Amino acid sequence: MDKLVSLCKRRGFIFPSSEIYGGLGSCWDYGPLGVEMKNNVKAEWWRSVVRERNDMVGLDSSILMHPKIWEASGHVESFTDPLVDCKSCKVRFKADDLDGDVCPKCGGELTEPRLFNLMFKTFMGPVENDASVIFLRPETAQGIFVNFSNVMTASRQKLPFGIAQIGKSFRNEITPGNFIFRTREFEQMEIEFFVKPGTDAEWYDYWARERFNWYIHLGIKEENIKQQEHGKDELAHYAKSCVDVVYHFPFGWSELEGIANRTDYDLKQHAQYSGKELTFFDQEANEHVVPYVIEPSAGVDRSMLAFLCDAYDEEPERVVLRLHPRLAPFKAAIFPLVKRDGMPEKAREIERMLQSQFNVFYDESGSVGRRYRRQDEAGTPFCITVDSQTTEDDTVTLRDRDSMEQVRLPVANLCQALMERLNPSPVFSTQES
Ligand code: GAP
Repeated sequence: MDKLVSLCKRRGFIFPSSEIYGGLGSCWDYGPLGVEMKNNVKAEWWRSVVRERNDMVGLDSSILMHPKIWEASGHVESFTDPLVDCKSCKVRFKADDLDGDVCPKCGGELTEPRLFNLMFKTFMGPVENDASVIFLRPETAQGIFVNFSNVMTASRQKLPFGIAQIGKSFRNEITPGNFIFRTREFEQMEIEFFVKPGTDAEWYDYWARERFNWYIHLGIKEENIKQQEHGKDELAHYAKSCVDVVYHFPFGWSELEGIANRTDYDLKQHAQYSGKELTFFDQEANEHVVPYVIEPSAGVDRSMLAFLCDAYDEEPERVVLRLHPRLAPFKAAIFPLVKRDGMPEKAREIERMLQSQFNVFYDESGSVGRRYRRQDEAGTPFCITVDSQTTEDDTVTLRDRDSMEQVRLPVANLCQALMERLNPSPVFSTQES
């Protein structure tokens, strides 16, 4: 993990937040390569769950929402961790993390556990009183539930259909850590998939399978990922069943994504608290039904961490990030072999030609071997080199990051060659019609 954290900083994937002020606990900034890769992760998710399906639409709801939403959802009451304080050294612990009833730091006496709500509170407007308290959302899901009727009506949906959303969430975690694995500000990719009651078990299995396969298709090694069903005592207050996709991180097997059967809990709660009917009218049965909800909920940052851990490889001569080409920040790097004989100009011309379709990177500094190594570390799947032969026959070399093999091909075929290598078979073919 230390090596990955160091590579991420060195290459511009991820920096500690507020670093020149000494950093801010568990907050991280995505650098030039990190933001490209993160955008790719989100784009792949969106492509597979929204664009390539005909039963899902997107949403971008606001982070600040009516405070009653969090009462209805159960977060005000139940989104808590029990904490204990040491009466001697004053250090605070999560009660669930402790084995005994004495302070693990100094052996002092501990207080009784008190419930600590994980939602960040702030005030809306100029007056800071109880009536102006609002929360930063701890999950994007509730923005979907409260828009259920708007979306269903505006996009004329029938069951089963889903609403997908990507956005920031905030939790005042007691024990953040493990780099970007658990932070207080993070991004989620969530689906609420609305189905007829009685078909929920089937859709739950379907989504568990579909979401697991997404990681495999994007290159996660099968031995590093598995599914883990929650025991009844581990379920969140809203869930009937839940299966986690867990990844073998350097610190152990941990959750990447949860797929939960949330039943009709949320829609019923919001109907009760808002006084608005949140149902679907089933014309065949001539009745209003409250849909059941299957929720695949993934973390963007955790996915990034898993993709980075899985891709990291050390060889005797080089460190290489074997990222799936679709996730790699740059798809190709373009090098003039030397800085003369018209090679930089030709390489710039190729850069302009490819730029509109691919994120490419131009580099002319240092030996070509060093330039290859830099791109290996950045996960760039292809390097294109302009050499003396280019000026004669308009061909370049195309080097593959993983095999380090080079082929020679005409400049005119470059776009097509990259397209074929970056767009292998469609990722999803399992959607049931
Ligand atoms: N709407 C359901 C929900 O939010 P969750 O299991 O609490 O369920 C879903 O969170 C996903 O969000 C997790 O699997 C994880 O990927 C991500 N996540 C949750 N808390 C996080 C944190 N503190 N830091 C980074 N990612 C987090």
